Order: sequence, then structure tokens, then C-alpha cells
Amino acid sequence: MNTENQKKIAAEKATESIQSGMVVGLGTGSTVYYALLKLGTMAREGLDIIGIPTSEGTEKIALEQKIPLTTLATHSTIDLTIDGADEVDKDLNLIKGGGAALVREKIIANASQKILIVVDESKVSRVLGTTFPLPVEIVRFGWEATQTEVNRICGRSTLRVASTQDGKQNPLITDNSNYILDCHFDGILAPAEVELQLNNIPGVVENGIFVNRADKIIIGTSSGIQYMG
Ligand code: A5P
Repeated sequence: MNTENQKKIAAEKATESIQSGMVVGLGTGSTVYYALLKLGTMAREGLDIIGIPTSEGTEKIALEQKIPLTTLATHSTIDLTIDGADEVDKDLNLIKGGGAALVREKIIANASQKILIVVDESKVSRVLGTTFPLPVEIVRFGWEATQTEVNRICGRSTLRVASTQDGKQNPLITDNSNYILDCHFDGILAPAEVELQLNNIPGVVENGIFVNRADKIIIGTSSGIQYMG
């Protein structure tokens, strides 16, 4: 089974946990995309759910799929969130933010009673930070000074850029109007500590380490579904 199909089976498996009446956190990324398609079909067939998106991109897809939406202002507790991840370990720790949505994803995660993470098998890692750089969202003001402080923790980071329509490379701007640093660790052995250390730097909004957040990781593999948690 190829990677795309692994993503699809994991995401569709997660939607089996959604029941009528639920407030559902809608994650971001190419894996969760398949869950959004499935939830759209389920909603149009009568499943009574209401979603809270983790990004403007997900909001757009959810609206196209006719998934009813709400906000944390109206529903402060989310029954179940389905989200993706960039790297996962056997302790269910995650690196997220490859899609630049980590701030809203962590806010949604914090408000969620249950979190299902959907990944393909390439995301499973022995030590976090060895296969994917850690995204850190920072405010634009004084960002170079913030990067210097971040580098004291990770060693080296790069400002994430995005290509414009005319082919120029500009700093990527997140949904929250901030920048992203991608931090190149040689492995994150103590994720809980590193999460706190990074968030203690003035100018850092949030980082993509998620510890003790996921209840279950659903992994699409070449031989079918596997679970962690
Ligand atoms: C978005 O910021 C991320 O946290 C995504 O959930 C993560 O990057 C996984 O995305 P894919 O499913 O596209 O790999």
C-alpha cells in the first residue's frame, strides 16, 4: 500500500469514532484531509456533528464539505479531535506544525477530551526530532533576536519561506500573522522539557512538541492499520 493510501485508511478509521452530537476538532494536513472528506459525507448523510477547524485551510475544506462549524467561544469543550502529525514516538509524543498550524492545533488539543492522531508509517520515529525539524511559531518583531535564543536550544534553525506566484521566496506568514522557525535538533531526548524551554523565550508563541496530548495514534502501514495507545 502506498503512502497516500496509508494516510487514507488511517484517517477514515478515525472517523469511525465520531458519533452524532459530538463537537469535533478538525486537524490540518494531507492525512486529515481524508477524514474531512469522510466526515463531509457522513454529515451530508445525516450525522449531527459540529466542527472546530485548526486552520484557515481546514475551515475552507470543511465549508466545501458542508460540515457545520462552530468556535471555541460557543463550544469551549471539544469531544474528539482528529489531527495529523509529522513525527510520532512510542510514548505518543508528537512533532506537529509541518503545515504551519501548530498554534491553533495546540489550542484545540488543549480543549479536547480525546485526540486521535492519524499518520502513515513514515511518521513513526524512535527519537523525536531525528526525522523532522521542529516548527516554532514566533512573532515577527525582533525575530532575529528570538532565533538567536531558539538556536541556543536547538543548535540551528531556518526561517520558513513560501513561494509567491511570481516565484519569489518570502517568509511564510501563519494564520496568526507570525513567522515559523524550523529547528534542526539531533534528536529531542526530553520533549517535555524542550517544549517548556522554547515557550519560555520572549517572542516564541508556541512550538510543535505535543506531549501527553494524543490518546491514540492510528498508523496506516503497508500491511494495514496499526495502533499506538
Ligand atoms: C499542521 O500544522 C501539522 O501539524 C499537520 O498535522 C502535520 O504536518 C501532518 O500533516 P500531513 O498529514 O500533511 O503530513
